Amino acid sequence: MSVHRQLTIGLFGFGVVGEGLYKILQQTPSLKARIKKVCIKHPDKKRNAPDELFTTDKNILLNDPEINVIVEVINETDAAFAIVSTALKNGKEVVSSSKKMIAEHFTELLQLQKETGLAVLYEASACASIPVIRNLEEYFDNDLLHGIRAIVNGSTNFILTKMFQEELEFKDALILAQQLGFAESDPRLDVEGYDALNKWVILLNHAYGIIEKPEKVVFTGIQNINSADAQVAIQKNFEIKLIAQAKKLNSGKVAAFVLPQFVKQDDYFVFVKNEYNGVVIESGFADRQFFYGKGAGSFPTASAVLSDISALTYDYHYEYKKLYYHKPHQLSNDFFLRVYISFDDIKYIPKEKFEWFEEWHAHEKRKYIVGILPFTELQNTTWWKENGTSLILMPDSIVEDVETRKLKKKSLELAGVFM
Ligand SMILES: NC(=O)c1ccc[n+]([C@@H]2O[C@H](COP(=O)([O-])OP(=O)(O)OC[C@H]3O[C@@H](n4cnc5c(N)ncnc54)[C@H](OP(=O)(O)O)[C@@H]3O)[C@@H](O)[C@H]2O)c1
Repeated sequence: MSVHRQLTIGLFGFGVVGEGLYKILQQTPSLKARIKKVCIKHPDKKRNAPDELFTTDKNILLNDPEINVIVEVINETDAAFAIVSTALKNGKEVVSSSKKMIAEHFTELLQLQKETGLAVLYEASACASIPVIRNLEEYFDNDLLHGIRAIVNGSTNFILTKMFQEELEFKDALILAQQLGFAESDPRLDVEGYDALNKWVILLNHAYGIIEKPEKVVFTGIQNINSADAQVAIQKNFEIKLIAQAKKLNSGKVAAFVLPQFVKQDDYFVFVKNEYNGVVIESGFADRQFFYGKGAGSFPTASAVLSDISALTYDYHYEYKKLYYHKPHQLSNDFFLRVYISFDDIKYIPKEKFEWFEEWHAHEKRKYIVGILPFTELQNTTWWKENGTSLILMPDSIVEDVETRKLKKKSLELAGVFM
């Protein structure tokens, strides 16, 4: 393929992202790319573009020999996968923003890229405008990545910000997020952590070469966090954030999950308010890096799609270096978490599953405990996200084995105080 080749785009989707891309491309004449046809679902909707650009027949785009790039920005997972796989089989490269489709079909997408030698780029799918995928892929193409923590969902971060700054109740903060257009039409996808989970599955691959099905990763959202939890956070001088985390353990394996966490005031994430996203990367020698930016919205997301289109003009593709050039990492469940758990009734809490307790507040209106749980307990059970029980990780929550034994000895000396 020639350097800086001309791209002729078949665009699927003309919603928030698709229309944003259409407008941005018109303002980027230096990029040798033009949209030839747009496939949408509802032909009768009014569009801010010429009628002749649109079709509802996907084959017009997928079978057009002049179209060499398919940009897929639709909101239907199965249809998106069908479009992307046919595009590749028909010799067209792909740019996509559909995180759910990518997370659920990672293995098939890798296989199709291998078979066809064609690129699938999807920077917009995780943290939208923050170039985190290419950063992990290109800059951290080594095994010095010690850990990565990220706020990847703007709607939940907006809700938590309002619960802290304006002391809104959860449901009022959610309504405000919906009114401002930050929450999905089905808010459970954001609020219960599914959206963050899909993004985390994508980033785990580029960070550590780990391919995991979303349903295998431990996660929850912020649906059970209430104003009493926010009050505890304020007393302890913490804030609450929904954080996707991966950390390389002493064993060389990786701990990974998406859970609400208390963060200290000196944490970079305290700076990440409202609908913004943030990523903190910890690596050997470079120490910490912090990326901050808009994780959703028309132009921020379209700008990442544009950057991928631009990358295709010089034949860029992900090399999946952690997966193919290094020994891919494996996930571990052999560690412990220091957790805060608040609840209405102690009968919902299996006390015997805790290694030990550090705090026990049985007399508050909303009761809570702080204790150490094996990670396997979160993997194998769901009591910690049912019956209104709210789990929030304490700062520096990951406790490895050796450390556990030391801490346990210390805590037993104090046991009488808490139990
Ligand atoms: N919005 C964001 O901030 C953001 C950020 C990052 C990633 N994403 C992801 O990007 C994708 C698009 O999001 P969006 O917010 O732009 O969605 P949206 O505003 O709901 O628009 C979806 C578009 O897809 C079209 N569509 C749906 N099913 C189709 C099908 N089977 N064939 C052809 N077109 C179809 C719709 O057509 P009609 O117009 O005819 O209904 C519409 O134009 C989603 O996967 C989303 O998760 C969004």
